[in-house]
Amino acid sequence: MNSFIPWIGGKKSLRNAICERFPGEKPDKYVEVFGGAAWVLFNKENYAKTEIYNDINDNLVNLFKCVKYHPNALREEMQFVLNSRSTFKNFRELYKADGMTDIQRASMYLYIIKASYGANTKYFGSKKLNFYDFEYLDKVKQRLSKVIIENKSFDIIIKQYDRFDTLFYCDPPYYKTEKYYDTGNIIFDEQEHKKLKDILSNIKGKFVLSYNDNEFIRKLYSEFNIDEVERQNNLVSKHKNKNKTYKELIIRNY
Ligand SMILES: C[S@@+](CC[C@H](N)C(=O)[O-])C[C@H]1O[C@@H](n2cnc3c(N)ncnc32)[C@H](O)[C@@H]1O
Repeated sequence: MNSFIPWIGGKKSLRNAICERFPGEKPDKYVEVFGGAAWVLFNKENYAKTEIYNDINDNLVNLFKCVKYHPNALREEMQFVLNSRSTFKNFRELYKADGMTDIQRASMYLYIIKASYGANTKYFGSKKLNFYDFEYLDKVKQRLSKVIIENKSFDIIIKQYDRFDTLFYCDPPYYKTEKYYDTGNIIFDEQEHKKLKDILSNIKGKFVLSYNDNEFIRKLYSEFNIDEVERQNNLVSKHKNKNKTYKELIIRNY
C-alpha cells in the first residue's frame, strides 16, 4: 500500500529497489530509524514480529500516533477544513501554538503537508486536494496497529533495538539537503553523518541505508556493500527535464 502523505525524500519510487535488498529471512525486529512518511514500511504487510517506526520530528510522530489511535477524531477534526491559502497560513501559525490538542495539531499538520508545495510544509502549493478520502486512514490505522511508534534520535533508537536478528532501514537526510527537515535543536550536519556511520559500523544486527550518490558518502561507507540505483526526480519531472534521473546509493552490511 501507499503512505498516506507525501514527504521530502520519501521513498515512493525507490521502495521496491530497497525491499529487494532486504535479507531473505525475516528478522525478529524491523526498525525504520528515519521514518518520514514510511513509504518502505507501507510497501509490505509485515517485515518482522516487531516493527518500529521512528522519527525525530514530533509533529510527524504525533500525526502517526493520531492516525493509529484516533482516526475517527482526526476525521471529525478535518471534515470541514477548507483548502485555501489563508487556511494554510493560519494552520502554519497555529499548529505549534500552546493549547492545541494532539488531534488538532495532527489535523493541521496533515493539511499543511498535503497542501504545501512538494510537501515542504512551508509554501502553499495551490493544488486540488482530496482530503475526504478518509477511508484510506482506516487502512493506514490497520497497518500501524502492531507498529511501535518512537520519537527519538537515531543514535538512541539504534542502540535501543540492536540485536543479532534486528534489521535497521536507515534513510537519513541526504548529504547537503539536511536543512529541509524540521529536526528541532539537532542539526543534521557532517558530524551526524559520521556519527551514524560509526554507530552502524558497530551494530550486531543488519542495516540497509539509502543516500544520495556523492563522494563523501561513498568514502565514508567504502568498507560496505554499495549498490548504485537510479530514480526520477518527482518534482522536476512534473515540470521541466521530464527525463532527468538521479543516482542514489543503497548500502548494506551484508
Ligand atoms: C529522507 S527522510 C525519510 C523518508 C522516508 N524514508 C519516507 O519514505 O518517507 C529523513 C527523515 O529523517 C528524520 N530525521 C532527521 N534527523 C533525525 C534524527 N537525528 N533522528 C531520527 N530521525 C531524524 C527527518 O525528520 C525525516 O523525516
